[in-house]
Amino acid sequence: ILKLPTAAEVNEVGADLITSLVQTKPNAVLGLATGSTPVGIYQELIRAYQRGLVSFKQVKAFNLDEYIGLPATHSQSYAYFMKEQLFNHIDIDPEQTNIPNGTAADPHEEGKRYDALLESVGNIDLQILGIGHNGHIGFNEPSPALVSGTHVVELAEQTREANARFFEDKSQVPTHALTMGVGSILKAKTILLVAKGADKANIVHRALTGPITTECPASLLQTHPHLIVLL
Ligand code: F6R
Repeated sequence: ILKLPTAAEVNEVGADLITSLVQTKPNAVLGLATGSTPVGIYQELIRAYQRGLVSFKQVKAFNLDEYIGLPATHSQSYAYFMKEQLFNHIDIDPEQTNIPNGTAADPHEEGKRYDALLESVGNIDLQILGIGHNGHIGFNEPSPALVSGTHVVELAEQTREANARFFEDKSQVPTHALTMGVGSILKAKTILLVAKGADKANIVHRALTGPITTECPASLLQTHPHLIVLL
């Protein structure tokens, strides 16, 4: 657990971990997140790429989640977000970037397809995670039971409220999403959990020191043998 005084330092350390991995393993499999937390890390990655320190040509990327109903061209879809925030600015092969398809005719089948794809590349080398105020990781919301693989979830009201800031109003926020399950997340060789700001302090404390419970999905990270937490 690394507590750093500023978000800028979190971004630098986070990006350094990723660039070191890709320098030593150019065909690394990266698990990526959206939301506001990783944006600064992605900016540092772009800077490292522009300075010639790292190439993402052989990297494979898998994103955690996508809203159901938003096409990749929608400005609030996570597919769009990833292009804007990272993929369009580095040399990653677009064919090697993967995000669940939010407009698949059968989202349940799409979850299975995504898991098979993940399986085919072996394990994710490094998974970046943010954390929701309710302890969600990916879109695995607090619940009496959790699902292991990629699946459809109904978003918690708190999550829709938190994400309404990116939409015109809350009614525009999709009600469902496809998300990698906690099983897929925990299979990653290394997990990098990032949280910024005082408003995340309580939930981070609960997740890392409280009981391991599906009512706080991030608490399952306590069971992971190689978890790095950047605060
Ligand atoms: C995003 C994701 C979510 C976010 C979480 C925190 O792909 O899976 O779990 O990481 O909602 O969001 P921010 O970073 O916006 O506070």
